[in-house]
Amino acid sequence: MPRTVVAQISDPHVTGPHDELFEASDPVGNLSKAITHAAARAEVVVITGDLAARTGTDAEYRGVREVLDSCGTEVLLCAGNHDESRKIRSLFGVEGRGERLDYVRELSGGRLVVLDSSREGRGDGALDDDQLAWLDRVLAEGAPTLVAMHHPCFAIGGRGLAGVRLDDESVDGLAGVVSRHANVLSVVSGHAHMTLSTSFAGTVAHACPSVAYEFDFRGRDLIYRPGLPQYMLYTWADGGTGFFARQMTVAPGDAWLVMESF
Ligand SMILES: [Fe+2]
Repeated sequence: MPRTVVAQISDPHVTGPHDELFEASDPVGNLSKAITHAAARAEVVVITGDLAARTGTDAEYRGVREVLDSCGTEVLLCAGNHDESRKIRSLFGVEGRGERLDYVRELSGGRLVVLDSSREGRGDGALDDDQLAWLDRVLAEGAPTLVAMHHPCFAIGGRGLAGVRLDDESVDGLAGVVSRHANVLSVVSGHAHMTLSTSFAGTVAHACPSVAYEFDFRGRDLIYRPGLPQYMLYTWADGGTGFFARQMTVAPGDAWLVMESF
C-alpha cells in the first residue's frame, strides 16, 4: 500500500482588500504556493486555523475563499483564535459537531481528526469534556490517527508566547485521552508561528510554521519576520508504521524532476 500523506498549512492570516498584515508579508501568495505544492504530494491538505488576519470578518473570509478557489483543490479547514468557527462552518460548508468545528476525515491508511480549540474572545485555546469524550471514542476505533487543532498542547516558553497554547485543564485532559491510545500518530497544531516538535503523552506533538509571519527568540527578544511558503508533511505506512514529519519550503522556481517511478 502506498504511504498515507497529509499536508498541514497554518496561520495564513488572510486580510480583506485594502488591508495588509504588515509590510513585506505575502500571506495570500505564500498560502497559494503552499497549497499547490502540498496538493501535488498529499491526499489531504488541512489549514490549522487563523485563516483570517484579525477577527474573522466576511471580507477576510472572501479573501480566503478566493485563494482556495484559485487553487482548485479541496482544503480542510480548522478554526483558530482569529477565526469565527461558526462563520467557517456556514461560509465554507464545513460540517462540525454540535457547537464545535470537530470532524473526522477518513484517509487511505488512517484518519485525520480535526478539533476546534478556538474559544471566542480568547487567545489561548480549550477542549471541553464533550470534545475529549468524543475524541476518546474516535480513537478507540483503532485506526492510525493524526489529531489536528489550532492551539499547541505544549508550552512554547518565553514570556511573549507563554499563553500560546491550550489551557492547562485541556492539556491534562488531552494527555489523558491520547495516552490511552497507541494509534495516535501525532498531535499537530499551528498558532506558534514556528516549527516545533516535542514528546506528548506517549506520542509526538508538532507545531507548523505560519505562511504569514514567523516568530523566533533572540536573547530576551521575541522577534518576527514575514512568513515563507512553508508547511508540514506527515507520512506513514501501513498500520501507522514508519511515521515521519517533514517541514517543506517552496523555494523560488521550485521545480522537481522525476528521477525514477516506483
Ligand atoms: Fe496565528
